[in-house]
Amino acid sequence: MSELDMTPYDAIISKRDVRHYIDSPIADDVMARILQAGRMAGSAKNVEANRLLVITDKTVQEALTHAGDFSQWINTAAAIVGFASPASELRLFDVGRQAQNMMVAAHGEGVASCPVTLHHAEIGRAAVGLPDDWEMPMVITLGWPVDDVPDSPLKRTRVALNDLVRYDRWS
Ligand SMILES: Cc1cc2nc3c(=O)[nH]c(=O)nc-3n(C[C@H](O)[C@H](O)[C@H](O)COP(=O)(O)O)c2cc1C
Repeated sequence: MSELDMTPYDAIISKRDVRHYIDSPIADDVMARILQAGRMAGSAKNVEANRLLVITDKTVQEALTHAGDFSQWINTAAAIVGFASPASELRLFDVGRQAQNMMVAAHGEGVASCPVTLHHAEIGRAAVGLPDDWEMPMVITLGWPVDDVPDSPLKRTRVALNDLVRYDRWS
C-alpha cells in the first residue's frame, strides 16, 4: 500500500522505527506538515512548554551521536528533531504525544523515523547550545528510508492484546 492510500489506522499500525536512510533531504513543505503535527499535540494544562529543535547540520548531528547510549547512527538522518523543555516544565507524556504525532505524520509522507534517548544530558546540551536549565531527553530522527529496511535489532513483535489490556479491575 502506498503511504498516500493509508488510513490513520493503517499509518499507526504499520509504522516501524527505522534507522536506515538514504542521503536525501526532506523538502520544506513535508517538514512543515511533520512539525505542524507536533505542534497540534495537546499538553498538560495547555502549557506548551516544549520547543522543537530541527537539526540538519552534520557537525551538530555528529556531536549529538555521543549524547545517547544507542545513538551512534543518528547523523545519517536527514533531520533530527529534539524535544527541549525548561527542566522545571519537562513532561515526558507531552514529549511522547508530540513525537508520535510527528512520526505517524512523517510515515504518512513516506518519511521514516525513530525515537532516540539522550542519556547524557550535558553532552546533548553542549552539542546544540541548550541553556543549563533546559532538558532535551529525547530526539526523533527523520529520513527517507532505504529500499530494503533491515529488521530492527530489537524484537518487532508486540505483547499480545489479551496480555496488554485488562478491563475494569486489575485481577
Ligand atoms: C522511549 C523510547 C526510547 C527509545 N530510545 C532509542 C534509542 O536510544 N536508540 C534507538 O536506536 N532506538 C530507540 N528507541 C526505538 C525502539 O528501540 C523501538 O521503538 C523498538 O525497537 C520497536 O521498533 P519497531 O517499530 O521496529 O518494532 C526508543 C523507543 C522509545 C519508545
